[in-house]
Amino acid sequence: MTNSALATAHTNVALVKYWGKQDLEKNIPATSSLSMTLDGLWTRTRVTFDESLESDLVLLNGQRAEEKVSLRVSGFVDMVRVMAKTNCRVSVETENNFPTAGGLASSASGFAALCAASTAAAGLDLDLQQLASLARQGSGSAPRSLLGGFVALNLKKAESGQDCVVQQVAAAGHWDVCMVIALCADGPKKVGSTAGMERSKRTSPYYQGWLDSHDLDMQEARSALERRDLDALGRVAERSCFKMHALAMSSDPPLIYFKGATLNAIERVWQLREDGLAGWVTIDAGPHVKVFCEAENAKDFAEQLAKVPGVQKVMIAPVGPGVKVGQ
Ligand code: DP6
Repeated sequence: MTNSALATAHTNVALVKYWGKQDLEKNIPATSSLSMTLDGLWTRTRVTFDESLESDLVLLNGQRAEEKVSLRVSGFVDMVRVMAKTNCRVSVETENNFPTAGGLASSASGFAALCAASTAAAGLDLDLQQLASLARQGSGSAPRSLLGGFVALNLKKAESGQDCVVQQVAAAGHWDVCMVIALCADGPKKVGSTAGMERSKRTSPYYQGWLDSHDLDMQEARSALERRDLDALGRVAERSCFKMHALAMSSDPPLIYFKGATLNAIERVWQLREDGLAGWVTIDAGPHVKVFCEAENAKDFAEQLAKVPGVQKVMIAPVGPGVKVGQ
């Protein structure tokens, strides 16, 4: 078997969010979601099956990963070992070119790259939906990073019997839009997505409303995307984002992912929009504000956001490609 493979996957940002699982053990989301893959923000992972190793070795940006991360990676590779019928230990060397675990979807690109690299290194020949099903068990947002452009993770039974189906709704060339990312704080978040979602599902009185209103968001987002209607897609994206944060905030105990700079940036984007610069806000389980806009307006947003109090850095991400595997 090929014993080493390298994969590069880009992060993605959901325009229609996933927040909540119908099955925690298999990590099946409670709702479908729709994302944009981001160019320029990637995870690159090399997986090597190595008979001389007594235990898995996980390096993150050149440093031994903390135990929690190593265990999550080894648990994922265990699924690949079962499929490949091997007990061989692995080394996993992974590098992110952006802050890890801070609400920039490092687990999406991380598990997409790990999934592609580990299955290739094990000599497994999986189709897209099999890869997606595996990646999803690492992280619910990871299957969307297998594909470029605009990607849906749909909750329906595929003919092959899978629980979710990943689908490229539009290729990167469909629309010249960007995410302008304003970094609003340092460091990892205190409550990760998995724990946050479970808390919302258990305790938020709005959880059922979230589930009930989700299909309409998906439908409207797909139709707006097809028409390249920025205002319509932006409106759904903001609505989905703030419903998700309302779930987090209405959990018990409450979860607030925003920092002061997050609110400052939201206000600035809304003011700019009133003044005629079209852009729409989305925020994941972290403090950073992402602005969805036409590519021709990205520089203006970046300049404006850089001046917002508390914003540390601004990046512009066009629509990005799907995962790539090499030796
Ligand atoms: C807010 O995919 O990180 O970014 O499946 O528990 O690993 P796990 O969660 P994860 O959650 C993503 C949540 C989100 C919204 C989204 O990307 O859809």
